[in-house]
Amino acid sequence: MSGEYVPGLEGVPATRSNISFVDGKAGVLEYRGIPIDQLAESSTFLETAFLLIFDHLPTKDELLSFEVEILGHRRVKYRIRDMIKSFPESGRPMVALQSCIAALGLFYPLQNESKEKYAYDSTIRLLAKMPTMVATFHQMRLGNDPIPPRDDLGHAANFLYMLTGKEPDPRAARIFDVCLMLHAEHTVNASTFSALVTASTLADPYTVITSAAGTLSGPLHGGANEEVIRMLKEIGTIERVRPYLENRLARKEKIMGVGHRVYKVKDPRATILQNLAQELFDRFGHSRLYDIAVEVERVCDELLGQKGIYPNVDFYSGLVYEKMGIPADMFTPVFAISRVAGWLAHWHEQLADNRIFRPTQVYTGSHNVEFTPLSLRS
Ligand code: ACO
Repeated sequence: MSGEYVPGLEGVPATRSNISFVDGKAGVLEYRGIPIDQLAESSTFLETAFLLIFDHLPTKDELLSFEVEILGHRRVKYRIRDMIKSFPESGRPMVALQSCIAALGLFYPLQNESKEKYAYDSTIRLLAKMPTMVATFHQMRLGNDPIPPRDDLGHAANFLYMLTGKEPDPRAARIFDVCLMLHAEHTVNASTFSALVTASTLADPYTVITSAAGTLSGPLHGGANEEVIRMLKEIGTIERVRPYLENRLARKEKIMGVGHRVYKVKDPRATILQNLAQELFDRFGHSRLYDIAVEVERVCDELLGQKGIYPNVDFYSGLVYEKMGIPADMFTPVFAISRVAGWLAHWHEQLADNRIFRPTQVYTGSHNVEFTPLSLRS
């Protein structure tokens, strides 16, 4: 084994997995072997979550009972609501979500049930309750009572309803459901790696997902779509795109929403999201920011294309969410309520063949340094 240090573990296999596959040169993404565009066309988020976690497309009965179980677990305990009420309204929603997920572990510890039943029940609870906790924090920070989930609405529509207080148009809800599918899984990205490391210690599932959520929150990972909207607003007009990008690159600053460790072509999810964004704006009104985004993509292609830097999943997702009335600081929690499906799939897979993660390091410090007593230190 080579002891060579690889910054960011680039190209280093950290696990074996049959959950998803990415070909970064060809722009291919598959979940359990099924191309993402087929799922986006024909599946739903919950069916895709089932596929990712249980390694097969559900039968009609399996899907129905999975959906019914999730529907039955959407509500959160009033003590969790009380806890959320005590959070500062100015707090970052991802930190609120991370705290809520950790708190679920207090309310649902492993008791007398089998480990298999606990794993299944925890999977259902996390998928069902995370959207409610995100929406509850949002309503409460606005000074409102939380909006209870509605049993007559599907997973995506119910979340939008709890978050915005308005029942979404069915086509908008379907587009949002596709967004959830597109973000559900993406091999061993930073947050999934975090989940694997925590899972490998046999920590409980709520702790595993708490770790992953914390890792997702950073601007180089799940926080990027919020930064994209901020950037597009800062640019303001199509004419300002080129000077803005050139200035930013001259200052050695990254352009948000472009570039990816694995994709060296346009992220296939960005292509699907752009089509969805286009449809949304055609149906529900034009977006000036979308025009600016298209120009950013064009100029980035000129300035950065030779380095293989193209739009990633975050480039167009924020525009779609904004059109649906989702506040920018909720974009990463929205990512989390989707990616939890992938994290859970990897947690199940890790436990099936577990070995605790314990990498090595390349030590760059000194040896045999003599201790200096405090009295002699200036
Ligand atoms: N803007 C400008 N230049 C970039 C960008 C970018 N967004 N991304 C990479 N580059 C350049 C780097 O400056 C570097 O150039 P150099 O070789 O001339 O020094 C080269 O491309 C390689 O960049 P790295 O930072 O080494 O690439 P890495 O694989 O480590 O980073 C990352 C990938 C973090 C996604 C990066 O592209 C980035 O910061 N993008 C912006 C943030 C973003 O959109 N994140 C979301 C990613 S998708 C997701 O997490 C869901």
